Order: sequence, then C-alpha cells, then structure tokens
Amino acid sequence: MAERKQWKWADDPSLNKMELTKLEKDGLDVIETIVNTYSKEGFQSIESSDMDRFKWAGVYQQRPKDGHFMMRVRIPGGILNSEQARVLAKIAEDYGRDLVDVTTRQAVQFHWLTVESLADIFERLASVGLSSFEACGDCPRTIMGNPLAGIDPHEVLDTRPLVNQLEKFFLLNREFSNLPRKYKISISANIHNAAHAQINDLAFTPAKKTIEGEEVIGFHVWVGGGLSAKPHLAKKLDVFCRPEEVVKVAEGVTTLFRDFGYRQKRTHARLKFLVADWGAEKFKEELIHLVGELETQGEDLLKGWNGGYFYGIHEQQQKGLYYAGLSVPVGRMNAGELVELARLADEYGDGTIGTCNTQNVLIRNIPQDRVAAFQAEPIIVNRFKLKPNTFVGYAVSCTGTEYCNLAIVETKERMRSLALYLDDTVTLDTPLRIHMIGCPNSCGQRQIADIGLQGALVKTPAGMVEAFDIHVGGTLEEAQFNRKLNARITVDMLGPFLAQLITLYKEDRLDGEQYWRYVERVGLEKIQAQVDSILQTA
Ligand code: HEM
Ligand code: SF4
Repeated sequence: MAERKQWKWADDPSLNKMELTKLEKDGLDVIETIVNTYSKEGFQSIESSDMDRFKWAGVYQQRPKDGHFMMRVRIPGGILNSEQARVLAKIAEDYGRDLVDVTTRQAVQFHWLTVESLADIFERLASVGLSSFEACGDCPRTIMGNPLAGIDPHEVLDTRPLVNQLEKFFLLNREFSNLPRKYKISISANIHNAAHAQINDLAFTPAKKTIEGEEVIGFHVWVGGGLSAKPHLAKKLDVFCRPEEVVKVAEGVTTLFRDFGYRQKRTHARLKFLVADWGAEKFKEELIHLVGELETQGEDLLKGWNGGYFYGIHEQQQKGLYYAGLSVPVGRMNAGELVELARLADEYGDGTIGTCNTQNVLIRNIPQDRVAAFQAEPIIVNRFKLKPNTFVGYAVSCTGTEYCNLAIVETKERMRSLALYLDDTVTLDTPLRIHMIGCPNSCGQRQIADIGLQGALVKTPAGMVEAFDIHVGGTLEEAQFNRKLNARITVDMLGPFLAQLITLYKEDRLDGEQYWRYVERVGLEKIQAQVDSILQTA
C-alpha cells in the first residue's frame, strides 16, 4: 500500500462518513486488494468500507446487490482503436453477459461482472492501454472530448495530444485521488461545443487571442458545471489558456477543488457549490495565485451546439476522407456488434472508433471510394444506421432499475420502445432530443434535453405505479436547463401523451424550429396549457 497522505482537512470534525473512509485508506489502494485478495477469495470476503472504494477501480455494485458489478472503462476523448474495441467485446462476452453500453460521457460500461473476474479484466484492459481506474469515485473521471478530434472540419485545433496529457497527468495520480466528490473534465476545440462544456466541472472550449501581435489559438476555461438534483451551468473564467497551459490550469483548478471543496455533505460537495459561493472572479484570482498569471479572455470561437450528434457521412478536414456518424439506440450493443464495428473501422477507416456523449459511435477516415460499400454493409443498413428515425436517433437513457441501485423506475428498455412508438406515430423532420432518467441523479442528462423525462412513482388505487415528470426546453445552445411542467404521466399513458404534445408543437412551430426554441418562443404557460388539454381529454 502506498504511503498515506497527510491531508490538511484530516482533523476537520465535520467531515462526512465517506471522507473518513477515504482518509483511512485511499480509494486507489483498493485496486491492489481486489487483485491480491478479493478476486481470489470471492464476494463474501469484501470488507464493507472497501465496497465504497471499489469505485476507484471503476467498479460499482449493480442492482440487486447479489454479487454482480458494473464496470466503467475510460475512453479518453471518446476515441478508441479496433484492437481495444475487440478486447472490450471479449470482456463483455466472457464476463459481462454480452452487454456493452456507451455512456453519456463517452465511456463504455459493462454489467454482470463478478469480483473473481476483475483481476483478469484489469490486465486485459491494460494490455491495450485502457483502464477502468477512477472511472467512478471521487476523482477525475473519463476526460471527455471531441470524438472527431484530428479530423473535424469544425475544430480549430487537434485536441488529442491534450487529452492524452491530461489523462496521463491525472490517472492514478495520488495528489488528486481524494477529491470531495466526482470530478469531470471536458476539452474540445470543436466550435459546436461537442463535449458539452457547461455541464462539466472543468471545461476547455476553443478561443483565440492576439498576444504581442500574434494570433494564438487556445481555450477559454469553464468551471463548476454539473447536473444531478441541483444542476449548475459552468461559469466562464476571464482567462485565455494556451494549449501548453492546459495541464497546468487543470492541475490548478483541481487543487482548488481538493483543498477548498466542501466535504461535509455528499450532496453539497461538487465543485459547482464552491464556484457558486466564490463566483468566477474570486475563483480566477485563486487560480492565478496557484498557477501564475494567465491572459485574460480572448475571442470566443464557440458557435452554437451540435448536441453531440454526428449522423451521416461527412467530409473531414483531410480531403478525400470521410467520417460516418452511426446510431446506437440508447447506447446499448452486444459483443458481436462491437467486433463488427472494429472490423468496419479496420476495413473502411483507419481502425479508430469514436464514442459520442449521445451514446452513439462513429467511424473515422473512410476514403471516398469506400463510402458506398461502407453504406451497403448489412450492419449499417439494419442496425447502426447513418440516418436513424428522429426519435430513436435522438433518445438518450440512463441505466434505470435494470442495474442501478438508485433507480426508481425502469428506463433503458422503456426509452427504446417509447422512441420506436413515437417514430411510428409522429413524423418529424427535425431532431427532438428526449432524455429519460430513473432518478434525480440525471446520469442520462435530463436537463439538457428538449424533453426530459424523470422517473417517479405515483399512488393509484391499484398500488404504486411508475410515472415520469416532464421537463421541456433544455439546450446548451443558449445554455439553459429544461423546466418542469405540472404533469406526472403514468407509464401506460406516456407514449400517447408525448405523441399528442409533439403533434401540437409540429402544427404550431415555425419552419424547422427546434422544440427548445419553440418552448422559448411560445412560453412555458402555453406548453402547460397544451398539457392540461391533453390530460383533460385523456
Ligand atoms: C449517488 C449515485 C449516483 C449519482 C449521484 C450519479 C450521478 C450521475 C451524474 C450526474 C452523471 C453525469 C451527468 C453529467 O454528464 O453531468 C452520471 C453519469 C453516469 N452514471 Fe451515474 N450516478 C450515480 C450512480 C450511478 C449508478 C449506480 C449507475 C449504474 C449502475 C450510474 C450510471 C451512470 C452512467 C452510465 C453515467 C454516464 C457515465 C460516464 O460516461 O462516465 N450512475 N451519474
Ligand atoms: S439517473 Fe438515477 S436511475 Fe439513472 S443511472 Fe443514474 S443514478 Fe441510476
């Protein structure tokens, strides 16, 4: 076990229980215990305090707590290669009941793992340069990025080297393995905000500034975003960060979180609460105090928001090469399908696969003369479509009661069938993003959806029934979270209710007007009136 750190908050009497657990033994130390002890001696041998620390190994007990685990694997910047994809597929096949989920932060998630399998899985991941370590826990999680980095016609800089530097710096770094809470970083130079800057704890977005007569491309820095029950949009600091300053600035922001973040209540520990209290101005001063002078803001190069979607065949920066954005309904596939993706990446592209925060994937670097054959591949025609139907294509879902201990309702399968139903019932030629979550934690990022569905239970004469609260108008374009309507819809009514609500919008909208813009224009009261009239006639 590594030497124990003497953290300066160690004697604070108001620390929460998890903080005491982390002080007693660093989360990262559990990895060694899993490998040397638990994976040999089995589930019954796991000490309860270590069960909390399993998250630092990227592993979490799944529901029901009967000895099975989920594992999240970091995919830095959302780019992996075909060899890595094959190893992931084999893990799912051998240990994970053939299930692979692409998550809302570009990671890959397995279910059904036993503790006996973990040592072997860690080894298999390491053999191809992957890791599950710190994919969960109070530490820097998967670093989100632009899955098109390096080939994106809408990027001002290739961020792949920066993602790698950040990953190298933070992964297994014991200076930052005991943060007050989870910590999420995103970096992208895509001008359409591909990596959802405003909902990360720390984000870098493209900017430029003329410094001493020279135009420098770099980043603006955002801090304190996050969702969950108390969502916050990140605040932009008045700094300009050169590419070579990214790691230094990330180290500084993370140090502020580590040393000044709140450790009293788990629900009030994310960086967003510190940023809200300090404000952007003080945060900047403290940051500069740590890392030295930084340039002030330059010109913001962000233009709108692509929602994290890349469907279809598109030209790359590199002339004659194309990328293909594919739909993976609610992010779930099986091992064989992932192997197929690896084959497509090798046969048509350069062997790399992108994972998107919309739970989708993309294939990079397809030469023009291979595009037609690629489009005709059966798995592209039938399964990972280039042009999915609107609702299946723009549906996101969290894990829900199938595997999640915190879930109140079932989500993933429900979102999939709901999307199919809506595609059958309503024809719509513009995207309408629906996100479904099973509890207020918002792993499926309900707040940024056009329509956000949040699970709840309602009492009926027939007993407790699963239902959803409806939220409308979320976007990161002119960033705002969706707002709750006064309507709790039971699951049997959900499809017909949404079909009617969306039909009213379709009849009333301006040409091509997206749903969140429509909500913005007509106002929440009008949407509430639509809801009331649907419910009255139901
Ligand atoms: C206290 C417990 C939990 C909280 C507060 C929580 C909250 C969150 C939040 C806020 C996000 C990210 C949304 C964002 O991008 O900001 C997230 C991501 C996610 N969570 Fe949870 N979650 C919890 C437990 C779980 C459990 C038990 C599961 C599944 C078994 C789960 C599955 C996921 C998945 C799949 C993601 C996307 C993650 C990634 O790519 O890194 N979460 N969670
Ligand atoms: S939103 Fe809630 S129900 Fe869904 S995966 Fe996250 S914690 Fe579980």
